[in-house]
Amino acid sequence: MKNTVQITDKNIFQTYSRYPVVLVKGKGSKLWDAQGNEYIDFLSGIAVCNLGHCHPAVVRAAQAQLKQLIHVSNFFYTEPQAELSALLTANSFADRVFFCNSGAEANEAAMKLARKYCHDRGNTRRFEIITMHYSFHGRTFATLAATAQKKFHKGFEPLLPGFRYVPYNDIAALRQAVTPRTCAILLEPIQGEGGVNLPDASYLKKVRQLCDEHGMLLIFDEVQVGMGRTGKLFAHEHYRVKPDIMTLAKALAGGLPAGAMLARKHVAESFTPGTHASTFGGNPVAMAAGAAVMKTLLQGDVMNNCRIMGSYFINGLKALQKKFPTLVKDVRGKGLIIGMELNREGKDIVRQCLSRGIIINCTMDRILRFVPPLIITRREIDRCLSVLESIFSKL
Ligand SMILES: Cc1ncc(COP(=O)(O)O)c(C=O)c1O
Repeated sequence: MKNTVQITDKNIFQTYSRYPVVLVKGKGSKLWDAQGNEYIDFLSGIAVCNLGHCHPAVVRAAQAQLKQLIHVSNFFYTEPQAELSALLTANSFADRVFFCNSGAEANEAAMKLARKYCHDRGNTRRFEIITMHYSFHGRTFATLAATAQKKFHKGFEPLLPGFRYVPYNDIAALRQAVTPRTCAILLEPIQGEGGVNLPDASYLKKVRQLCDEHGMLLIFDEVQVGMGRTGKLFAHEHYRVKPDIMTLAKALAGGLPAGAMLARKHVAESFTPGTHASTFGGNPVAMAAGAAVMKTLLQGDVMNNCRIMGSYFINGLKALQKKFPTLVKDVRGKGLIIGMELNREGKDIVRQCLSRGIIINCTMDRILRFVPPLIITRREIDRCLSVLESIFSKL
C-alpha cells in the first residue's frame, strides 16, 4: 500500500487531496482497502455507484460486451447505444440522446446545443446562459464559467464570456437577469456540490414559465441527482416540470465512464452531422452497462429502497441535530442525497468517520454530504448514525 501511495504521489498530478487509503475491492455498499479493512460507503464514488459496487447485472453486461466488441467509431451503429438510448427516451421527456463520457462533456454539449438552436432561428446575438450561485457544472472552460462559484474560477481567468449568475431559488432575481441575449437557463434541480440545496416547491415551475415567456431553453443538469438518486428516475419529476435539455453522467453506466445529453426533438435537430462529436461517446461497454443500470432501476425495487431509506436516514440525522443543536444547523435532502449543515468545518469529522469504517464527504467546507448506494440497508445507516453520534459527542 505504501508503494501505491508513493508511486501515485510521485507520478500523478496533485489535483486531489487523497486519504491515505488504497481501495482494492467493492461489493454492494462495502469497500475494502489493501489491508483488508472494511468500509461502508456513503459516497458511492460521488453519486456514481447508485446500484452499489460491482452490481451483478452491470458486471454481467459489461463482461459480455467486452468479449463481443469494445469500440467502434460513431460512423457505425451499435446495439448497446440503440438499447440505452431507447430506454432513456422511453422513460423521460426527451426524444433524442447524445452520448459522451462525463458530466462536463454533457453540459458542454447542452450549452453548445442551446446556442446553436438560437443561431438556427436567426438569433445570432442570443447566446447568454444564466446559471445559479453555488452551482457546479464541471471543470472545462465552458462548464467552469457556468459554475457560479469564484473558488473554482481562481487562476483560470479570463473566463469564457456569455454567462450571468443569479441566486438559486430567487425567481425575481432570475427574471431581472433575463435580457434579449439570454438563450438558456441552466440549473441543477437540486444542487449537489453547492451544499444539497433544494428548490422551493414552485420554483422550477416558475423557471419553466419564464423560459416559455421568453423563448429560452431550460436545461437541467441531473449529472449528480439523476438516475434514481432522489427516489425518482430524474429529480425534476418531483416538481412536475420538464426541461428542454437534460444532462446525465455519474451513475448512468454503473461506474463506467459515460455521459449523456437528452433533448426534445425540435431542439435536438439543431445538432446535424458534423456539428458535435465524441470519439468515445456511446462506447459499447459503457452503453451495455448503462442499459443494465436502467433496466435494474426501472424494476422499481432500488428506487423504492432509496425513498424508504432516504427518509429513515434523514430522520436519523434530524434526531442527531436535535441532540447536538449547537453543532448541527440543518439537515436536508431528497431520497439518498442528504446534506447535514454544521456550524463548523466538517473535514475532521470526515476523517474520523473514515478511520471508523464509514466513508462520507464534506462539501462547501461545512456540509456533510451523504450519497450512499441506493441499495443501502437500515443496519448500515444505523452504523453510520452511531459513528456520527459518538464523534459528535466528543467534539
Ligand atoms: C451537477 C454536476 N454537473 C456536472 C458535474 C461534472 O461532472 P464530471 O466530473 O463527470 O465532468 C458534476 C460533478 O460533480 C456535478 O455534480
